[in-house]
Amino acid sequence: MFKPVIKWSGSKRSQAARIKEYLPKEFNRYYEPFIGGGSMLYAINPPDAVCGDICAPLIDLWNEIKRDPMGLSEAYRQHWTKLQTEGYQAYYEIRDDFNRTRSPEDLLFLSRTCVNGLIRFNANGDFNNSLHHTRPGISPDSLEKIILDWSEHIQGAEFIAADYTVTTESAQTGDLIYLDPPYFHTKGRYYGAINFDAFLTYLEHLNSKGIKYMLSFDGIRGEDDFTIELPKELYRRHEFIPSGNSSFKKVMDKESVHVLESLYLNW
Ligand SMILES: C[S@@+](CC[C@H](N)C(=O)[O-])C[C@H]1O[C@@H](n2cnc3c(N)ncnc32)[C@H](O)[C@@H]1O
Repeated sequence: MFKPVIKWSGSKRSQAARIKEYLPKEFNRYYEPFIGGGSMLYAINPPDAVCGDICAPLIDLWNEIKRDPMGLSEAYRQHWTKLQTEGYQAYYEIRDDFNRTRSPEDLLFLSRTCVNGLIRFNANGDFNNSLHHTRPGISPDSLEKIILDWSEHIQGAEFIAADYTVTTESAQTGDLIYLDPPYFHTKGRYYGAINFDAFLTYLEHLNSKGIKYMLSFDGIRGEDDFTIELPKELYRRHEFIPSGNSSFKKVMDKESVHVLESLYLNW
């Protein structure tokens, strides 16, 4: 499995290869309006893509990975070295800096040295996770390789900080949209939340324009069935993707459970 450049909760990294098997044979432009950690973008590696997320600091980080991978890698090296030599205060200074400036370099460092690597913001958009004391954080040399590799992969992608409806406004007949909205039942745990009825109207609009979509939607997690059925007229196929263990649940409950996720296709 490929390594993540941005660790993001709800990442599709472990399912990406399976989801990719359902791609249509042909499509024009690729859209991913809930990009998060970008696992599907990496797996699909399309030549022409438009990606977005409501989380602006995340999009700034994607743009840095794309435009200046070496600069980003150097900034991580400096921050990381400061942490090893000066100790935990360095982490909290950089966290304060990020909360003032929203610098993508700082965000990358925090994501690689915070508790369980979980990017977490409070209601004001301030990063509020603490330092992971027992781990040094990935070495600058290892992270540099990952950043450079991802940077090559995303050269054909444009990144927009926007609502999903805005990111996909330019989509046309023959284009493909991969949708991975925040779980409706864990509303608030991810950055942002979306209105279910408005989302259904959006899917109807895609159908009427002949735009293909793949939608990762709900989960059956252990004993709990979180399946929310989509109205039948909105899709053509409903597949179940085994997604192994949910890292989200493992972090929350110190247990692992089997997860199946729905993938809806409108062709
Ligand atoms: C389940 S995560 C996507 C994970 C991604 N597929 C990955 O592999 O990392 C959902 C994403 O939707 C974003 N989001 C929430 N509300 C949004 C909205 N209204 N428009 C666009 N993005 C939104 C969140 O910031 C989060 O990154």
